[in-house]
Amino acid sequence: MRLTRFHIHALRNIHEITLTLHPHFNLFLGANGSGKTSILEGIHLLALGRSFRTRQSQTVINHQQNQLACFGEVEDSFGAIISMGIEKTRDGEVRCKLKGELCDKLSQFATQLPLQLLTPETFKLLTAGPEERRRFLDWGVFHVEHTFTGLCQRYQRLLKQRNAALKQFPRSSIEAFEKELVEVGEKISHQRKQYLVSLIPFIVQAREYLLPDHDIEVHYEQGWPNTTLEAALRDALKQDQRLGYTSVGPHRAELAVNLKGFAAHQVLSRGQQKLLICALHLAQAKALYAATGRKCLFLIDDLASELDSPNRQRLIAYLAKEGHQLFLTGVEDAPWQAVCEQYEGQMFHVEHGNITRTHGFTGLKAPIESPA
Ligand SMILES: Nc1ncnc2c1ncn2[C@@H]1O[C@H](COP(=O)(O)OP(=O)(O)OP(=O)(O)O)[C@@H](O)[C@H]1O
Ligand SMILES: [Mg+2]
Repeated sequence: MRLTRFHIHALRNIHEITLTLHPHFNLFLGANGSGKTSILEGIHLLALGRSFRTRQSQTVINHQQNQLACFGEVEDSFGAIISMGIEKTRDGEVRCKLKGELCDKLSQFATQLPLQLLTPETFKLLTAGPEERRRFLDWGVFHVEHTFTGLCQRYQRLLKQRNAALKQFPRSSIEAFEKELVEVGEKISHQRKQYLVSLIPFIVQAREYLLPDHDIEVHYEQGWPNTTLEAALRDALKQDQRLGYTSVGPHRAELAVNLKGFAAHQVLSRGQQKLLICALHLAQAKALYAATGRKCLFLIDDLASELDSPNRQRLIAYLAKEGHQLFLTGVEDAPWQAVCEQYEGQMFHVEHGNITRTHGFTGLKAPIESPA
């Protein structure tokens, strides 16, 4: 999948732009506050219907306008062009169009344009609580298992009912919810475990290339002890009644990312954490491609920060080798000289919300050694 054309109207400081995009490297360079992250935000909005910076659309809409719009033309894996568009108003109205038809399911959008997002915020994949890592894992399950979203929605509904029943009802009525909760919960857990089995070899491969000296262990903790979910819920009932919520189940699962028995972020430096997070996202993209033949777009905000030059080059070499469409931002030209000499792409200059295509580059020099 790749975005061939992209149009933004009234998104933050960008008034109106149309970009013709390169299938590989798209570099957006410019000063602080010029609008680089806003371009990535626009692509994210088109793909997922929401910003990655805020839940409040009003802050994303240009201050002088009442609505924003993003339109894109996407080339799918068969070479067909799909048109996508989203409009958001200050009153909270959202209109999405897919192939010219109004579309009310944002999940249909997400499957058209699978994204991997890496921003300075994505450190929280390692440093925050299990919810972040569950979300990471679930992204992959969602793209390969078509029943997964429905199961998660059903599970959330049943969990709410059980939590309400814990506070009000006798044991018999709590048990009435549990049969279905157990069935759906175990299916979710099974799909996650199966997906992780397919993901781990890609994590190992990317980690070996990007962090060769650090042996990372990744494993799934299902969210309840090593029994059936039914037994775990029964054993936890008294405690859950006291707490007022359900303390076991796949909603408490964890994707543990460890190094020598410690959480990876407690051991790795900032740059190493960034490389590990990139390895995890590259693995997701590879697993998706292996399962569905669809390639991800990578949005990488401020790729150069935290990374020294050799690591930056290795990461870029890996990204280039995988043939993903890349959208990269940076504040300075210098770190990108080598990229322009080695790869094919397009550079854009961003200034006060205006974006100008400065030059294409064609990679005349041989690239540095890339992964097998
Ligand atoms: N709703 C809005 N309307 C108009 N301008 C806005 C709005 N929201 C933010 N801005 C401005 O838009 C600009 C876009 O910021 P953006 O985060 O895209 O910059 P950037 O190029 O990524 O900068 P940095 O290098 O500091 O990360 C900023 O100058 C910001 O003050
Ligand atoms: Mg920025």
